[in-house]
Amino acid sequence: MKTLLAGKKILFGICGSIAAYKAAEWVRELVKAEAEVSVVMTEAATHFVSGLTFASLSGRRVYTGMFEKDAGEEMTHITLARECDLFVIAPATAQTIAKLAHGFADDLLSVLVLAGNTKVLVFPAMNSNMYCHKATQANLFKLQEYGYTVIEPEQGKLACGDDGVGRLVDWKTAREKIVSVFTRQDLQGQTVLISAGPTWESYDPARLLSNRSSGKMGYALARVAKRRGARVILVSGPSAIDPPPGVEMINVMTGIEMHDAILAKYESADIVVMAAAVSDYRPGKKMKQKVKKSGTSIELELIPNPDILKILGYKKKKAIRPLLVGFAAESKGHVEEGRRKLKEKNLDLIVINDIIGTDTGFGADTNEVSLIDRNYQLEKLPLRSKEECAEMIWDKIVNLNR
Ligand code: C5P
Repeated sequence: MKTLLAGKKILFGICGSIAAYKAAEWVRELVKAEAEVSVVMTEAATHFVSGLTFASLSGRRVYTGMFEKDAGEEMTHITLARECDLFVIAPATAQTIAKLAHGFADDLLSVLVLAGNTKVLVFPAMNSNMYCHKATQANLFKLQEYGYTVIEPEQGKLACGDDGVGRLVDWKTAREKIVSVFTRQDLQGQTVLISAGPTWESYDPARLLSNRSSGKMGYALARVAKRRGARVILVSGPSAIDPPPGVEMINVMTGIEMHDAILAKYESADIVVMAAAVSDYRPGKKMKQKVKKSGTSIELELIPNPDILKILGYKKKKAIRPLLVGFAAESKGHVEEGRRKLKEKNLDLIVINDIIGTDTGFGADTNEVSLIDRNYQLEKLPLRSKEECAEMIWDKIVNLNR
């Protein structure tokens, strides 16, 4: 399957900040994603990282000055600006931001921004005082007025030793911003509430009941929804996965905590996707001390957890929103079980997982799911990465949400 960035022409502008070395990784990742990357560096940037680094990583000539030996090619540079699909500027320094805000054209990078008419993503990186200075903030405001997208830098330890805002965002965040430029914004204006991962139900201070859910499918759904323009609230049981950039995370441990978090948020949601594998049961009582080994069998009473989705389905009988999507993890009778749950929980869509296959279900990076919608239409999706599966599931949800 082609990546979302395959064949996209990206002009990558690098300014003179110590964060320029991080741009090397970004260029490498973009090339790996099969984008065609052309790099333009300010004079200052070349003092931090050699143009040769970017030429090697991009496999293309790096543009550094307007008056280089082959200045006759200047018009080619302009063509480059006009023909690119996206202009990324990372790191963007206070100096370049100021130039762009005032329309200066005294180096190649600023000329190319003025000459081009594509989307511009500006990733500032600088000392926090420089970033917070009214002049820089006013300049960034101007850039937004011109239609450029400014991605706020992160808070943290800066190269100068200070702590504060000004650190270049990490590649994962940048990737989402870049990919979303090429993604339909068909979830814009929608609030999406997603649950993911397992729950942990403790019965003593050391032990618990859980399941093999990794959270990968729910996190992929959250990442893709964010990319497609939604406001995303992700309620997650314990998972080792990094939160998708830009989503509002609510971390929970138990089924009861998940119930409380979902019920507290569902009224603000247009769409609820319950991808979590909530424990059906929890121990009736939690021991204060660790249960000692006695050599004989012991009994553990299990009591049912609330079925969150069923509660939402019941509430929905009196309303049209939110659109409800459930998951069914099955090991046999998939379609029949799916249909039964769709009806029982009053859902708009159910996504049926096969948990027996090695390429599907818990922990796998790929998945092969079937969808049954509220009209009992069955659709079998092909085996794909969980992110691609998430794309197809959202396509279906967007259709049902019209
Ligand atoms: O009935 P079953 O547990 O198989 O249904 C699975 C669907 O119901 C999933 O979408 C899951 O997130 C949701 N569920 C729930 N509350 C539970 C158990 C499952 O919302 N206690």
